[in-house]
Amino acid sequence: MSETAAVENLDQAAAEAELERLAGLIRHHDQLYHQKAAPEISDGDYDALVRRNQAIEARFPDLVRADSPSTRVGGPVAPGFAKVRHAVPMLSLGNAFGAEDLREFFARLERFLGKDGAAAQEVVAEPKIDGLSVSLRYEQGRFQRGATRGDGSEGEDITANLLSLDQVPAQLEGAQELLEVRGEVYMTKTAFKALNERQAEAGQKVFANPRNAAAGSLRQLDPKITAARPLRLFVYAWGALSGPAEEILGATQWDALSRLAAWGFPTNERSRLCGGVEEALAAYESLAAERAALDYDIDGVVYKVNRLDLQARLGFVSRAPRWAIAHKFPAEQAETTLEDIFIQVGRTGALTPVAALAPVTVGGVVVSRATLHNEDEIIRKDIRVGDQVVVQRAGDVIPQVVRVIEAQRPADSQPFVFPKTCPCDLESPVLRDAGEAVARCSGELACPFQQVEKLRHFVSRGAFDIEGLGEKHIKAFFDKGLLRSADQLFTLQARDGQDLPPLKEWEGWGERSAQNLFAAIEARRAIALERFIYALGIRQVGEATAKLLARRYGSLKAWHAAITAATEERTAAPEATKPAEVGEAFATLCDIDQIGLSVADELCRFFREPHNLAVLEALEGALEIADAEVPKSGSSPLAGKTLVFTGTLEQMTRSEAKARAESLGAKVAGSVSKRTDFVVVGADAGSKAAKAEALGVTVLSEAEWLDLASS
Ligand code: IVH
Repeated sequence: MSETAAVENLDQAAAEAELERLAGLIRHHDQLYHQKAAPEISDGDYDALVRRNQAIEARFPDLVRADSPSTRVGGPVAPGFAKVRHAVPMLSLGNAFGAEDLREFFARLERFLGKDGAAAQEVVAEPKIDGLSVSLRYEQGRFQRGATRGDGSEGEDITANLLSLDQVPAQLEGAQELLEVRGEVYMTKTAFKALNERQAEAGQKVFANPRNAAAGSLRQLDPKITAARPLRLFVYAWGALSGPAEEILGATQWDALSRLAAWGFPTNERSRLCGGVEEALAAYESLAAERAALDYDIDGVVYKVNRLDLQARLGFVSRAPRWAIAHKFPAEQAETTLEDIFIQVGRTGALTPVAALAPVTVGGVVVSRATLHNEDEIIRKDIRVGDQVVVQRAGDVIPQVVRVIEAQRPADSQPFVFPKTCPCDLESPVLRDAGEAVARCSGELACPFQQVEKLRHFVSRGAFDIEGLGEKHIKAFFDKGLLRSADQLFTLQARDGQDLPPLKEWEGWGERSAQNLFAAIEARRAIALERFIYALGIRQVGEATAKLLARRYGSLKAWHAAITAATEERTAAPEATKPAEVGEAFATLCDIDQIGLSVADELCRFFREPHNLAVLEALEGALEIADAEVPKSGSSPLAGKTLVFTGTLEQMTRSEAKARAESLGAKVAGSVSKRTDFVVVGADAGSKAAKAEALGVTVLSEAEWLDLASS
């Protein structure tokens, strides 16, 4: 910027003109940076513009413009695509990795549905398309909006990009008020090869596989780029509808697919109707045989219970439907050299051995690391540094070392010796509990690796999802003593520049990136309870469990109080093996569907540690933690009530009854107490019915329960 005059030489008129020029220029670069992710100038040059603007404003305070760049703190936080909340969440699928798993799925349908289980054995087998799932919203038959799956609850608005796919109908004939159609956007193998050739010629990035190419193309901020990339679509499911699915789409999945096709949506012609598990397995074999010849990638077969009424009864377990499963094709394999074994320390102190591999392409992706799981696995497979090994990769799973090719083992190779101390500076002893495969660093909260991993988990996607705070940065903040526990994130900005130079002056940072980071942290001061619980990184409390806890207790206060009470009870009864013997709060915790004794014990373990409580309380003080949405609460008379089922039910199995009650916002407990609202009594009920009478708890017959459940 040598051609511009020094600030002290500017007169009033020149200053005014210069401020105008700078406001326009900075706005222009903000847009390039934030909206197009394509900055034209370096951080340093940008900062120079901002500083020049500030210097002029300081000399001529009367000239500060209404749209002054200095009042727009950090500019808009990277908007990219607008967020879209899915009216009906976009779910994932459970996996079957072999015929046995698939037989178990069919058996589970029988068990859950009891006498209607036989009817559920009719399934549709569809190719599992390896692309990106999207949701297309039609109102009054017009295409209104398209979104990515995102985290399942919230995706990104990619309407403009989807409009450029000629397979997305803009208008449906005679369609409903509201129809959300779901499917997969993919790129053909042919188009993928051609695109990569063009990219390589133009000196641009080449994609690892068609899926990545489709993702990169669909998530272009400029829809013109998307339009120039040949993306295609298959639809296979739906979300929100303005009426019953049976009326809009038909009685079965099979009918629904033909209805969707009649509206002009592309459906996959290789889908098959199967009369039971044997036919399902045959459909799998024939798709596996065709796989290589297809011009699009498929990574398995999805089976869906055909009747929609049975789908509705089967419902969902956390994020996946009970009525569908994905049967994955075997993982792709390749051979390479294992160059080294190093140890990674996870956030709970678990030591995981990792193989450093000579880079090799496995199913279109270059792999240079693979997990070795644990010490026993290394011993069992006798894996040594220098070995030639077979690696495999299935879907998004971390690559694994399958086996060693012993014939090619170097003569001087030595068995791997698992370390006895943590690789961190403290070198804490490694402990392995009897019967446990996992070795852990005994340093607990003192181990720097664990601390950094905990912080990484805290800001990760399913937790606080703080953009721009990668591992490298966390490690730098940690090493400089700025960030030792999660609560300190929220004082980072206030402490900026206090003991150390301000962040914007650090190597690799600038005014903008520092402002963006602080803004991203500020934006997360308000957070959903389930994300908060997940972020704490309690052992065995993953996203699904955190959600169950949030839904059961509703608010931070209730959750905190309940776990505190359960912890006190557990501390007083450390030897008890039955939840009811420990105490009521502990038993209530164990009673939550899919939470058992061991998860409850981990929660108590966390709550017993004073350091954890200090961090927890500091966070609670700094944040606004939103109450959980209780599913359909209020609309059902069962919402918020606690039920106990006993005896044999006629109309549905115990599993179905429990799932139904929970979907209406009720809690299902295993034993009757004075906190129970209803006891549902089937045939041959035993002591629980008697106990209900004794405690004065309302007893319902099966018919009365069904009435309540459907009102
Ligand atoms: S059904 C509740 N059908 O696989 C229904 N999914 O691993 C959920 N996928 O997120 C989806 N082909 O992106 C379904 N024929 C198919 C599919 C399919 C590919 C993807 C989809 C889903 C993922 C789950």
